[in-house]
Amino acid sequence: MTDSHVPPPELPEAEEGQERQHRRIKSFVMRAGRMTEGQQRGLDQGRPLFVLPLADAPVDFDQVFGRSAPRTLEIGFGMGHSLLEMAAAAPDQDFIGVEVHYPGVGALLNGVLTQGLTNVRVYDCDAIEVLNRCIADNSLDRLMLFFPDPWHKSRHHKRRIVQPEFAELVRSKLKVGGVLHMATDWEPYAEYMLEVMHVAPGYRNLAEDGKCVPRPAERPITKFERRGERLGHGVWDLKFEKQD
Ligand SMILES: C[S@@+](CC[C@H](N)C(=O)[O-])C[C@H]1O[C@@H](n2cnc3c(N)ncnc32)[C@H](O)[C@@H]1O
Repeated sequence: MTDSHVPPPELPEAEEGQERQHRRIKSFVMRAGRMTEGQQRGLDQGRPLFVLPLADAPVDFDQVFGRSAPRTLEIGFGMGHSLLEMAAAAPDQDFIGVEVHYPGVGALLNGVLTQGLTNVRVYDCDAIEVLNRCIADNSLDRLMLFFPDPWHKSRHHKRRIVQPEFAELVRSKLKVGGVLHMATDWEPYAEYMLEVMHVAPGYRNLAEDGKCVPRPAERPITKFERRGERLGHGVWDLKFEKQD
């Protein structure tokens, strides 16, 4: 978890039951959040320019970005610090961010506007819907999932976004040779990710030890992570390449 995030709220049992009956279990709970002036500006001015609607057919991102460039999708960008930094550092690549938390969407858009970035687009809805409905098969070079909600309690593990179906969905959207990059600061979640990924067909673990890769230079370090390092907390990076 990073400095930009508050832990997921407790779910009332009734709501959990209702959700089970009516729809797919979600990896998030919508949180009300106060909006700063900057975030509101981001939403007001940035939404018409950079937020894409949920489509019912795969989107032609060459047309959206006006070019054909390596394409990364980040799920759950939080306040968007990593995504902004990565997009600014790689103007020759395109980035699609997906986040359900509106203050975070506003913060990212505010940064995109302030820095004048043209290589970022955003979905402000459930990433599973976005992957299923808007992203063509075999079209992503990279999918990033940084510090997803760990859902610590075992009765909430079913809410973790990393599941066998998720691994399969992501594999279908990556190009051959494309990479799923995950990071977490919760060791049991890292172990759980490894369990899921090791039985997921069509992936190769890029870690030399068959577990985690050393911290990749391309993943920006956050304030939280720096503080965690000082306190001796760990961060685990996992990279899996699509093989076929
Ligand atoms: C613990 S935060 C981490 C945020 C950010 N990656 C970081 O490192 O600061 C997880 C984020 O994922 C978002 N999220 C969880 N499930 C999601 C989903 N299915 N679609 C879009 N966003 C999601 C949450 O709203 C939350 O902001």
